[in-house]
Amino acid sequence: MSEPGVAVNNLRNSPASFEVEKFRKDFPVLGQKIYGHPLVYLDNAATTQKPQAVIDALNRYYSKENANIHRGIYYLSEQATNAYEQAREKVKAFIHAKEVREIIFVRGATEAINLVAQSYGRTFFREGDEIIISTMEHHSNIVPWQLLCEQIGAKLQVIPITDEGELLVREYQKLLNKKTKLVAVVHISNTLGTINPVKKIIAMAHEQQIPVLVDGAQAVAHLGVDVQDLDCDFYAFSAHKMFGPTGIGVLYGKTHWLEKMPPYQGGGDMISAVTFEKTLYNKIPHKFEAGTPHISGVIGLGAAIDYLNAIGIDKIAAYEDELLAYATRELSKIQGLRIIGQAKEKSSIVSFVLDDIHPHDIGTILDQQGIAIRAGHHCTMPLMHRFGVAATARASFAFYNRKEEVDALVRGIHKVWEVFR
Ligand SMILES: Cc1ncc(COP(=O)(O)O)c(C=O)c1O
Repeated sequence: MSEPGVAVNNLRNSPASFEVEKFRKDFPVLGQKIYGHPLVYLDNAATTQKPQAVIDALNRYYSKENANIHRGIYYLSEQATNAYEQAREKVKAFIHAKEVREIIFVRGATEAINLVAQSYGRTFFREGDEIIISTMEHHSNIVPWQLLCEQIGAKLQVIPITDEGELLVREYQKLLNKKTKLVAVVHISNTLGTINPVKKIIAMAHEQQIPVLVDGAQAVAHLGVDVQDLDCDFYAFSAHKMFGPTGIGVLYGKTHWLEKMPPYQGGGDMISAVTFEKTLYNKIPHKFEAGTPHISGVIGLGAAIDYLNAIGIDKIAAYEDELLAYATRELSKIQGLRIIGQAKEKSSIVSFVLDDIHPHDIGTILDQQGIAIRAGHHCTMPLMHRFGVAATARASFAFYNRKEEVDALVRGIHKVWEVFR
């Protein structure tokens, strides 16, 4: 365990321009005490905290702008519609999409993937076709494909991984074949922290004209995403993991796919004309946004993007890299602690097991010290199986975490040892 003085010293040596203490003040939640201890929030892979700017945007919308969008001919509705569509522009710029109509608002990464499975998959896949995923997928990038496989008689193929938690690219190459209709891979693993070489994965699939969906739920808040540079066909993410509200997310899709895909749900706003005989659908992206959307959520997502842009995603990534290196070094010193996921390219997530102590016990004892981590299978049960564990403890960091919080975690784990010794 490091001395508090060491941590302070390290903090002084962190990227000089990164003002973590200043940014922390933007997040009201972080100032709290839990059971008399300062809150140490290390469950950012599950959801991130919200800055005041996002909270204010939601408040402003409900206090001053609330109206339904796209249908009103009065001032408030126009204001709300503008704010909603401006947020779409912000998302487009944030992920470097080519066109604003490639941005579809959905409930989150889960709904984005289900949309592609049901609209794209059900339309274009046939019995005997194959879908490639990887061993490290979140359940939300497994189960929608399984449902589709059951519906149409397609088959799932799974890319294996190394003991360090890296995709076996050569094995992936072998899985690609004429029957492959889609590759769906995670950009950053929520359990291992592995940053997958998605650009390469996509290029390999495209050599055989196979489209690729990337699950970017863990990536958007931690590294710069450029969907044109990646050349992915679909990209899915959730606002709540990037300091925005819950219940809202994005499906990015290339125009030529979205135009060919049938609507996912029917209802208001996704139509251009309805008769009992036939309905004509609206243009994309509206074709995929049936019913009144989560207007405040979209506006809040726009505010989260403004907030992230003001700091700079590259600065965030550099600071988090340093935090990850520090956490990995300090946690590795603890007797009996084994880190699951040691890929060369990693994001700020550390999963670990501690001797044979159940991760839920670790989580509970840490909680008593105000430290919030996650314990369980992290919605990656097949991955747990691959590593021969039922669960792990997981600390996941955001740019507002400090090195002192890593030290608090280390001290907390020593307490866990004291209880179980
Ligand atoms: C890698 C990954 N994919 C997808 C999801 C699903 O995100 P949501 O529950 O916001 O739809 C998560 C959530 O933890 C995730 O970590």
